[in-house]
Amino acid sequence: MQLVFATNNRHKLEEVATKIKGEFKLLTLNDIGCTDDIEETGTTFKENASIKSHYIYQKYKLNCFGDDSGLEIDALNGEPGVYSARYAGEHGNHAANISKVLQNLTGETNRKARFRTVISLIWNGEEHFFDGTVEGQIRTATSGTAGFGYDPIFEPDGYNITFAEMSLEQKNSISHRARAMDQLINFLNTVQD
Ligand code: IMP
Repeated sequence: MQLVFATNNRHKLEEVATKIKGEFKLLTLNDIGCTDDIEETGTTFKENASIKSHYIYQKYKLNCFGDDSGLEIDALNGEPGVYSARYAGEHGNHAANISKVLQNLTGETNRKARFRTVISLIWNGEEHFFDGTVEGQIRTATSGTAGFGYDPIFEPDGYNITFAEMSLEQKNSISHRARAMDQLINFLNTVQD
């Protein structure tokens, strides 16, 4: 059974592919020949995830899912949120995004934050949502070199190291994305039985 993941990120695809049981053939946007730029115009993770899955379902009539993730910082009223990738303007410039966060939190004692992932799955025409979060604190300086994005300044609750100081395996065992993906996989494994 074909299932499209509305992404071209191989790492994300492999994370799901290794956990999914049965007869699914997971396809990326490249695999189905979709080169369209699906604009993330939503103001919530849920809206953006839904925009991606609906776009693919309407155009290709295939079961599919899309995801959207980001960092929410309490003292910044939930920023950078859906703008996590482009917080400092330049798309994908992680160093500039981190600098902006640290700058905006100068002198702030409430460092509470969370990473969140929302997945929208369209399965036989019906939409299902899966939500994963990991709570933590924003450090006052970067630490560690692993991972990507805001990992060097995010310390998950219950640990005294940042995501960027964890092995990929350790991060994947508690991450927002892994938690949302696990729910998706549980659902898919159930509907297959
Ligand atoms: P995406 O929706 O998964 O592409 O994530 C959007 C943006 O959120 C990324 O470009 C990062 O800035 C940030 N982000 C999402 N997940 C993580 C993570 O696991 N670590 C660090 N940054 C993340």
